[in-house]
Amino acid sequence: MKTEFAYSEPVRIFFGEGERKRLKEIVGSLGLSRGILIADAFLAKNGVAEEIANDAHLCAVFSEFTVDPDIKAADAAADLAREKGVDHIVALGGGSAMDLAKFLSVAVGSGRSAEELFYGEIPERSIPVIALPTTAGTGSEVTGVSVMSDKSRGVKEPLSSPAFFVAAAVVDPVLTLTLPPFATAVCGIDAVAHALEAYWCRRHNPVSDALAEKALKLLFGGFDRAYDDGSDLAARTDMSMGALLAGMAFAPTRTAAVHACSYPLSEMFGMPHGEACAFTLDLFTRLNSRIDRERMDALAHSLGYASPDALADEIARMKAKTGMRSTLAEIGCGDIGALAEACAGHPLMLNNVKTFSAEELKAAFGGLA
Ligand SMILES: [Fe+2]
Repeated sequence: MKTEFAYSEPVRIFFGEGERKRLKEIVGSLGLSRGILIADAFLAKNGVAEEIANDAHLCAVFSEFTVDPDIKAADAAADLAREKGVDHIVALGGGSAMDLAKFLSVAVGSGRSAEELFYGEIPERSIPVIALPTTAGTGSEVTGVSVMSDKSRGVKEPLSSPAFFVAAAVVDPVLTLTLPPFATAVCGIDAVAHALEAYWCRRHNPVSDALAEKALKLLFGGFDRAYDDGSDLAARTDMSMGALLAGMAFAPTRTAAVHACSYPLSEMFGMPHGEACAFTLDLFTRLNSRIDRERMDALAHSLGYASPDALADEIARMKAKTGMRSTLAEIGCGDIGALAEACAGHPLMLNNVKTFSAEELKAAFGGLA
């Protein structure tokens, strides 16, 4: 085998039970002093955001944003950050809080408006972000991707730039203990999708393969336990580490066919990101294993499954158990051709081990009727 690759992961990672309490010390070690907290609205209401803000002496809290954060929220947060004269941003929440914080860091660092950044070049000028994920799924704490939306035009884009890497990720599984079962499932299966996509991505390399394999062992081992008993800290720890490693696996490779399809599925049928990924995850596990047979066989065996099809069956079981939709009728899709066109046309499809055409996808989606 011949291979040539580089791997780098610039984020300092602090992982483990209780690490969230070291935030002030971590901020200080980075030479930072005035921070703004970007926190999911329900964390602002239930007191967790206040506890973190007080512990780390943060000077402002911003939580006026929704899932798939809008560029208008970034402008409002940037105004507040400038008014307070902050030198760093702390993100507390799931992917939306972290993606907004990363985008905001470039808006504040560059002085550009959110619209200029969303539709133009992303300059490498940002202020440091410290991310505290409260879900185990997105991997946003270790990727250079920020998914933002311009809801006035119905556009949602995964923006990619080295400027979006956070300075430090503080991954404390205790923060995920209160995540409800369905959210646990959709976030967890999103992480499974990240690891599988890193593995079958055209740009995969031996490091991303190793990270993906380890991530999948932890995620498949922890999924049911975390779903069945949210207070199981050992299961939550496995899911948090699995999601983190899956994020590190796809940070350099990016994602592929499953994520290419997830964007049209979310836009056309309002599916949450993780459920939209799950919708085609078992399907592409089967389809990609016909293309990349040797490697997919090896992966399935190392995870303890007899074949890639058995691995796909396990994903289908996880979806059914946790109440995720798995048919076109359930999501209200009556035009398979339109969905197939949108999925085939998404740029992430080019990263897949095989670029499926709209015709091929239409035939494959027929099996989901
Ligand atoms: Fe994802």
